[in-house]
Amino acid sequence: MCRGVEPEGGFMKAVAITANPEEKSLTNTVGRTFLEGFRESATSSERSTDFIWLDALDFRAEYTAADRAHYLGTAPVPADVAALQERIADTDVMALCFPIYWYTMPALMKSFFDRVLCSGFAFDPVTGAPLALVGKKVRVFMLTGSSEQWFKDSGIDTALQLQIREHTFRKYCGVEDVELVYVSGLTTLNDSATRTAVGKQLDHVREIGRAMASELTR
Ligand SMILES: Cc1cc2nc3c(=O)[nH]c(=O)nc-3n(C[C@H](O)[C@H](O)[C@H](O)COP(=O)(O)O)c2cc1C
Repeated sequence: MCRGVEPEGGFMKAVAITANPEEKSLTNTVGRTFLEGFRESATSSERSTDFIWLDALDFRAEYTAADRAHYLGTAPVPADVAALQERIADTDVMALCFPIYWYTMPALMKSFFDRVLCSGFAFDPVTGAPLALVGKKVRVFMLTGSSEQWFKDSGIDTALQLQIREHTFRKYCGVEDVELVYVSGLTTLNDSATRTAVGKQLDHVREIGRAMASELTR
């Protein structure tokens, strides 16, 4: 729960973190739709949302010498990283939204993992025990040209589940409630059948946001 005064019904916060250079991209729409769903849920008294479009920030996309120095314990956390850590530290729900590029996340989102979920924040530098993300809920929205079925049949889904869900979030970050969600089949956005399919997927994204807000109030 968010620190500070807690009104009756509890104070809940959700953050969506997106990576896509185009402001009006479907990636950003997914992030905003998720947060709308979270706000819409009728059961709780107080909630706040934060939309973090990584491309719009002064956030370095590469792992820097300053990150390495911090990892080795000889320098503080770089300022652009600290600013993001502050925005996610007190959140209950985190949605990560990105297009799949070459079967994995794009460089800017990878940089979020490498730099922000770092030693001393996500896990203890000495014991390796999970720290700041323990108890949070995470949803990873992956936008893809191919179908979800293709990702499953090819084995790429298994690779993503292992990397992102099992090892990164569950094992290292102590996040038990984490799911990967596909927004898929986005290759031919101009035909009406695809537009309808995208609309249904956005409804699903909104529903996930709503359901997570409801779950938190139980
Ligand atoms: C550099 C690049 C690599 C891509 N690689 C894949 C891929 O490996 N698998 C896939 O299904 N789609 C791939 N795509 C398609 C994107 O995932 C798809 O265009 C994107 O999810 C649409 O979301 P947006 O409208 O928010 O950009 C790739 C697109 C680009 C630009």
